[in-house]
Amino acid sequence: MKPLVAANWKMHKTLKETEDYLRRLLEIIPVDPPVELVVFPSFTALALAGKILEGTPVALGAQNGHPQREGAFTGEVSMHQLADLGVRYVICGHSERRKIFGESDEFVAAKVRAAWAYGITPILCVGETLEERRAGRAWEVVERQLFAALSEGLSGPLVIAYEPVWAIGTGVPAHPKDAQEMAQNIRSWLLRRFGEKGKEVRIQYGGSVKPENAREFLGLPEIQGALVGGASLDPESFWRIAQAAGLE
Ligand code: 13P
Repeated sequence: MKPLVAANWKMHKTLKETEDYLRRLLEIIPVDPPVELVVFPSFTALALAGKILEGTPVALGAQNGHPQREGAFTGEVSMHQLADLGVRYVICGHSERRKIFGESDEFVAAKVRAAWAYGITPILCVGETLEERRAGRAWEVVERQLFAALSEGLSGPLVIAYEPVWAIGTGVPAHPKDAQEMAQNIRSWLLRRFGEKGKEVRIQYGGSVKPENAREFLGLPEIQGALVGGASLDPESFWRIAQAAGLE
């Protein structure tokens, strides 16, 4: 299973910045990287990024997608439209969307199912707040999120990103031991629920991953990739992180 290292740009980069970044990234990576790479630009830059990345080892991802095929949903972009652009991965249930836009577990579940329906691989984000961790409820919260999002089964390829909310954008990552324990819990849950199919799900860690600490997470036995925010905004920094995943 090749690790998946993902660059979530969030609300960053103009068209020119997108083009400069991707051209640079394509210059510095090998033709056949030891890890799978995926970049998540803003919607405004998706079409351009898709053109630049066509035929390269870097996949195109979208930061969000609406489960309905089409309709009166002002400001939304559907999974159907994303598939049309060549999007291969979509982030579902990122904590910023759960918190800022009030996305429920049920809505996240609908997104995951819609992604599969259109041939897109969902990256399902799960993670607890600091308060929940301090109360000893981290696994309970993550299990609830998993249960809700996957209640109707595993009908396609899946990536799970464990992103503790308190580690996102703070510069303070989780302790690798805690990330490993959570990843192990997630894997056991997947195996109990989906049997053999649960083995094929890649589990990423996300939250203040940087080139300096990437190896601490990407070297863990149950972690097969990273979902990177801030440190993915520079192509050199992103590639340094990805290289840490490719080390045996
Ligand atoms: P940071 O890497 O900036 O902490 O963000 C993580 C994240 O939210 C990726 O989806």
